[in-house]
Amino acid sequence: MPKVLLTGSTGYIGSHTVVALLEAGYQVVGVDNYSRSKPAIADRIREIAQKDYHQYQADLTRKEELAKVLEQEGDISCVIHFAAFKAVGESTQHPLFYFQNNLVGQMNLMKACEEYGIPGMVFSSSCTVYGNPEQTQVTEDSPLLETESPYGRTKAVGEALLRDWVLSGTPARTAGQRVVALRYFNPVGAHPSGRLGECTVGVPDNLVPYITQTAMGLRKQLTVFGNDYPTRDGTCLRDYIHVCDIAQAHVDAVRYLDQNAAPAGPWSVFNLGTGVGQTVLEMIQAFESVNHLHLNWNFGPRRPGDVVAVYANNQRAARDLGWKIQYSLEDMMRTAWAWEQNQASDPVL
Ligand code: WQD
Repeated sequence: MPKVLLTGSTGYIGSHTVVALLEAGYQVVGVDNYSRSKPAIADRIREIAQKDYHQYQADLTRKEELAKVLEQEGDISCVIHFAAFKAVGESTQHPLFYFQNNLVGQMNLMKACEEYGIPGMVFSSSCTVYGNPEQTQVTEDSPLLETESPYGRTKAVGEALLRDWVLSGTPARTAGQRVVALRYFNPVGAHPSGRLGECTVGVPDNLVPYITQTAMGLRKQLTVFGNDYPTRDGTCLRDYIHVCDIAQAHVDAVRYLDQNAAPAGPWSVFNLGTGVGQTVLEMIQAFESVNHLHLNWNFGPRRPGDVVAVYANNQRAARDLGWKIQYSLEDMMRTAWAWEQNQASDPVL
């Protein structure tokens, strides 16, 4: 089976994707600088998949570190590029830190693909590239509006660099380089084994980790940021999708690139969402009913930069990648809570 290299391989989505690739029979090479994750996650991956894989510590902003891995591994058919900082709030405080880490790292990886003849790339993008859409259900052809943060900017610019690279830039074009960009909506939940999930550092920015930490008593109360939005209950609407469904889409994308057939042209982009929107209040209600808990929450002011409503039209991924969603909203809430509880009793160190 082809060998796939993942950057950010011990991160939230990266680690779940390593498991899915190993279970699909791929050889996997993982690269991470562990700035936002822990080396011990690699052992959890091996434990779940019951398979070994090669894991390296390397920082993509240092070309020589990546080169060392590629010299060691050779014959890589595809890279999946997860490695990037992704905290919206932090990116507004430190934009240059985000541009340097996310964009220099990506360009170094692109260069390495040329130098080592790696023909395929799957790029971790985000629905944030749609900004605040007029039409709240977005297709891949919806306008790419002003992103709400420097983090979002690195995803929009990241996609633009890749498009230029494979559509107009030689030698990538002549080498037949192909890129699939996957625009994640809101990844949530954890692996059904309870042994892998999102390792948040410090106070969580995102809704679901904040919910589970409040339920665990690690946070006093969840604040719902705004209840006067033009939505069905006044709170923001998002398309939450289980992290394992996101991981599976990456396996489908690697297979799509593996095919020598025409479908996978030089540039393809896919929305990864369920196609259903949920509001913040609906997420709280789902968490409480699935886990038979009462959550301590209150309304607070709007959070600057929040998009009012966005959710996916996901038909293209179903049609072209053969992607099938397996997990429900209940699964998202159940696995998120189980992971939080397991972290309390048997934390990843
Ligand atoms: C969701 C909703 C908040 C916390 C960001 C990135 C996106 C992706 C996921 C990387 C919003 C509300 C949240 C809280 C709240 N990142 N909320 N109280 O902002 O949609 O997306 O993270 O892939 O690219 O932009 O996710 O979970 O932060 O917020 O009311 O304590 O929950 O206002 O309406 P977001 P989120």
